[in-house]
Amino acid sequence: MRNLRSIIAGSALVAVTAAMWVARAAPSATARASAPSERTSAPRPLAPLDPPSAPADNPTTPEKVELGKLLFFDGRLSGDTTTPCSGCHQPKLGWGDGMDLSHGYPGTHHWRNSQTVINSAYYAKLFWAGESTSLEKQAEAAATGNVAGNGAIDLMEERLRQVPEYVDRFRKVFGTERPEIGDAWRAIAAYERTLIQTGTPLDRFLRGDASALGPEAKRGKALFEGKARCIQCHDGPLTSDEKYHNIGLPPSPTYETSPLVTITFRFQNYSRGVPEEVYRKSKLDLGLYYTTARDEDMAKFRTPSLRYLKYTAPYMHNGVFKTLEEVVAFYNRGGDPDPVKTYFGHATKSPLIRPLGLSKQEQADLVAFLLGMSGDEIVVDQPKLPPYGAEK
Ligand code: HEC
Ligand code: HEC
Repeated sequence: MRNLRSIIAGSALVAVTAAMWVARAAPSATARASAPSERTSAPRPLAPLDPPSAPADNPTTPEKVELGKLLFFDGRLSGDTTTPCSGCHQPKLGWGDGMDLSHGYPGTHHWRNSQTVINSAYYAKLFWAGESTSLEKQAEAAATGNVAGNGAIDLMEERLRQVPEYVDRFRKVFGTERPEIGDAWRAIAAYERTLIQTGTPLDRFLRGDASALGPEAKRGKALFEGKARCIQCHDGPLTSDEKYHNIGLPPSPTYETSPLVTITFRFQNYSRGVPEEVYRKSKLDLGLYYTTARDEDMAKFRTPSLRYLKYTAPYMHNGVFKTLEEVVAFYNRGGDPDPVKTYFGHATKSPLIRPLGLSKQEQADLVAFLLGMSGDEIVVDQPKLPPYGAEK
């Protein structure tokens, strides 16, 4: 039973997406109705960010957050104990890992950029292409995913049980005799719900402090909401419509040069049940397509929040841009040619991505506004981790 549980947990994502592929032959009405798509409504205005809510079955308490923080930094929640969450979400690297594509579990290379965990508490769907539906599920997927934590559920759970301080802390927080691995994910999620930033210059400005943004950033805001059309997708308090778009990114050079990335790319594709004739046609991350199996969703990714960008370079799911200036220049030229059209013959690039005709000054204004969406750097020191103790 326990073994079966760990097998299922370790491949939960794969199982779900493989089921989607089976459904492809006869798409069910519910799968289609719930499938996300491009926006159909008008964008919401920018708004200040309030603290996030927690799910009813995992309320946030200070003790749980403290435990979650220890676990977030503890490599014992990974295969060979070298790869804690904080290994790829390093506070001093914007809570990412600073690489274009994340370094991945030792011996592998990840195929996507490591996202910041700052403000991840606000998303309904996590990961670049929205493959996970809660922070609790996401933490398990990260710790067990072969190119991330690569941990076995039972082994990680037993490690926690051999740390007397964890036994005490889990008992106090969850009332269990011994640590249960599911509670580790709950505690980590509770910690992540505190990794937020709600007092940026933009938030202060939107709450009425007209001096919080300088003249450049104010002009940038007008462009963001008008001529540059960013708000068409980056809207509301989070600056994300949480929908999926292909914005016509250039391919990742690392995909071309790293055999380890090719291995991960092929592995991700065939373990998700993608037909060989699809994944051998290109080295293109197909994004939302892995979840929906619909050709029209190829290379679409969840619109990310633009908060905390100051610290999270490089940018995009494939980390192709090192600076915000490069990002703005990219949008200004109307993006690059649609890679889906190049490889598969049909277009999925968003019609919203068109040349913008921004002057050099306007591009600089836009960058100044983007920087106003970040407050101070959130830096946390590595906590002292509790040692193993006598067997219990
Ligand atoms: C080996 C590197 C690595 C490790 C270890 C790792 N992550 Fe990640 N994390 C990533 C990458 C890469 C992504 C983006 C993956 C994707 O989109 O497929 C990501 C995405 C996320 C996201 C989604 C953020 C968003 O905006 O949707 C969260 C939350 C997160 N990780 C938390 C964790 C937690 C918690 C752990 C530990 C249990 C962890 N990660 C371990 C590399 C890592
Ligand atoms: C059609 C919707 C859409 C529009 C319009 C749009 N974006 Fe984006 N933006 C996205 C999506 C989707 C991504 C993620 C793309 C990916 O990684 O494949 C993204 C990514 C970004 C990123 C990288 C964030 C990160 O964490 O790496 C920045 C910065 C950005 N956009 C800024 C802008 C600016 C500035 C504008 C206006 C000039 C703009 N966007 C217009 C949808 C849009």
